[in-house]
Amino acid sequence: MAFLAVLLAALTATQVYGAFAPERRATCAGGQRVKNAECCAWFPVLEDIVPNMFGGECGDDAHGALRLTFHDAIGFSRSGGGGGGADGSIIVFNDTELMFNANAGLDDPIDTEAPFITKHKVTPGDFIQFAGAVSLSLCPGAPQVGFFMGRPPPKAPAPAPDGLVPEPFDSVSKILARMSDAGGFSPEEVVALLSSHSVAGADTIDPTIPGTPFDSTPSIMDTQVFIEVQLKGTLFPGPEPGQGEVESAVAGEMRLESDHLIARDSRTSCFWQEMAGNQSRMQQQFAAAFLKMSMIGHNPNSLIDCSDVIPAPPALPANAGPHLPPTLDQKDIQQACPTSAFPTFPVLPGPAETVPAIPQA
Ligand code: HEM
Ligand SMILES: *[C@@H]1O[C@H](CO)[C@@H](O)[C@H](O)[C@H]1NC(C)=O
Ligand SMILES: *[C@@H]1O[C@H](CO)[C@@H](O)[C@H](O)[C@H]1NC(C)=O
Repeated sequence: MAFLAVLLAALTATQVYGAFAPERRATCAGGQRVKNAECCAWFPVLEDIVPNMFGGECGDDAHGALRLTFHDAIGFSRSGGGGGGADGSIIVFNDTELMFNANAGLDDPIDTEAPFITKHKVTPGDFIQFAGAVSLSLCPGAPQVGFFMGRPPPKAPAPAPDGLVPEPFDSVSKILARMSDAGGFSPEEVVALLSSHSVAGADTIDPTIPGTPFDSTPSIMDTQVFIEVQLKGTLFPGPEPGQGEVESAVAGEMRLESDHLIARDSRTSCFWQEMAGNQSRMQQQFAAAFLKMSMIGHNPNSLIDCSDVIPAPPALPANAGPHLPPTLDQKDIQQACPTSAFPTFPVLPGPAETVPAIPQA
């Protein structure tokens, strides 16, 4: 814990003092300068996967790669009996782990990533976390997250056992306990990690409507998910609710029961509210928790900092400020934090919107 804190503090310091040209000790074949020479190996991977795996966009493949980082890493238990954490076991032992209900739909990103892992001869654990970090670099508004390399291949027999990946129908207590046991995450860090649901949707909760987004702006990483999940739910996007789905406030948008309850639980509601509309807070908190997640199952001291390979994401578009969806208003916000009021946001003009599905890769 202490060394991780030191490491995260060091990373923040690097970002803060980045303007003073941090020492870059190696020059890669392509001319890029990096702190650690081993990291040069990742530039060809980066240049391949951005166009050829992600199509250069924050779309379905980027979302799937981001989700995969979580489902691989979280397969670990501090109390014993877990898998190896962020070790690539979800790919290497796909025959086991993809049978788990919580991993439904991950065959898509795994099929997408597997040929690139073979081609570039990197470990699956490193590749999954690298691809997740790179996927975020394509999402306007996302923070520039860190990436460390050096995860060995999963040790056999190393599939994670079933039951370690949170389900959208789990209670808040169960989710918080699991996240603490897996990675020592605080309730605040769990909320921070859920910023990922800003660039996300569901394919399997209601299989009749694949690509149904969790907020109205799934191709940018803004804080709309924190605002929209706090609205009173009125509709289901599909013909029938799936397991772990509750009513959302916007047509075409799906709300997970877990997100809904975490937004309203006394242990998490105030922090959830602080994220709404605070882009820089969301970015900082998410980046720190995401890096911590990428190291589950590993001693950070045995990994090499290759954060300087990850490109900076584009900024949010100028017209993408936090807002309430058209026709809704502040009265539709279900206040949950007992100590301060939910911030107010302008209502987007125009008729009630129907959020289009995320085009499927
Ligand atoms: C902690 C509790 C969490 C629960 C219960 C949960 C649940 C879910 C569910 C049910 C889906 C939809 C899957 C489908 O039907 O296709 C989903 C999608 C997604 N989740 Fe989570 N999630 C959690 C945390 C996270 C975390 C920590 C991350 C990453 C840091 C993450 C990233 C994503 C992404 C990017 C998608 C969209 C995938 C796509 O659009 O293809 N989730 N999540
Ligand atoms: C696991 O991966 C192998 C190799 O890509 C593939 O043939 C197999 O169908 C996969 N299994 C599952 C359950 O997805
Ligand atoms: C946003 O969060 C930062 C901390 O990350 C805080 O200093 C700032 O006051 C917050 N802004 C608002 C408007 O709440």
